[in-house]
Amino acid sequence: MAAEKQAAVTCIDVRRDFQDGSRVIKVLQGTNLTVYRGEFVAIVGASGSGKTTLLNLIGGLDTPTSGTILIDGDDITKLDDDEMSEVRRHKIGVLFQDQHLLPIFTALENVEVPMLLDNIPAKEREERAMKLLDTVLVSHRAQHMPHELSGGMRSRVALARALANDPAVLLCDEPTGDLDHKSGGEIIQLMSDLAKKQNRAVIAATHDPETARMADRILLLRDGVLVDELVSDFFKTSGIDVRTRRESRKKVEEETSV
Ligand SMILES: Nc1ncnc2c1ncn2[C@@H]1O[C@H](COP(=O)(O)OP(=O)(O)OP(=O)(O)O)[C@@H](O)[C@H]1O
Ligand SMILES: [Mg+2]
Repeated sequence: MAAEKQAAVTCIDVRRDFQDGSRVIKVLQGTNLTVYRGEFVAIVGASGSGKTTLLNLIGGLDTPTSGTILIDGDDITKLDDDEMSEVRRHKIGVLFQDQHLLPIFTALENVEVPMLLDNIPAKEREERAMKLLDTVLVSHRAQHMPHELSGGMRSRVALARALANDPAVLLCDEPTGDLDHKSGGEIIQLMSDLAKKQNRAVIAATHDPETARMADRILLLRDGVLVDELVSDFFKTSGIDVRTRRESRKKVEEETSV
């Protein structure tokens, strides 16, 4: 019997309005989403469509105007600040572009930072951080300062840091935004592996067709809701038929797994 799928993220009728002077901007207008552990989902959409807004809500960094968000079964819209930071620390890892590494700490120390709040003994902290750097293939640079690393390596260290407390959910906002093609590809592959091999729910907001192509599902944020149709239209200008390539990859996998 197949193992039951575990929903790591559930958004039910999520709305987020922003006040702009006397005007109300309705960004999310009843967004629904379920992401299971083991799944890598890409969220695409025009600039300003609300991708970052949605990730911030799922990550507990912002509160919806209305609606429900469940993380690993917990309704985070009902938590107080302390409970919310507890969920953020233990269930959610974030890889956002503006969350830079701390420049005065080594790569290893940067990965240890989230563990400090949990009072994990120094030796265990270091061992765990080293293991995580190993997972993202940058342990050979553990003692280097961030400025001594390439952009791709820094992203991998930030990814290791996002995994420090073994989160069920990994949220990535434009994870390949600053990277060259090769480094971007490596990060996407790692994200896919983290979903598949470590049974996490990985959600990436992206404009990059290559990132979307690697995802199990691509959802388009449009008019404040997520839809799974119209995705290939969205990528038409890139010249890459994302949907066709994704589906053909699935077909090959199915055929070879018999
Ligand atoms: N704190 C805020 N106050 C007011 N308006 C906001 C706030 N945060 C976001 N917005 C507005 O919400 C809309 C969606 O923004 P968001 O950053 O979520 O878009 P996005 O899809 O991530 O865009 P991009 O692809 O450019 O990153 C925009 O119109 C933005 O100006
Ligand atoms: Mg954004």
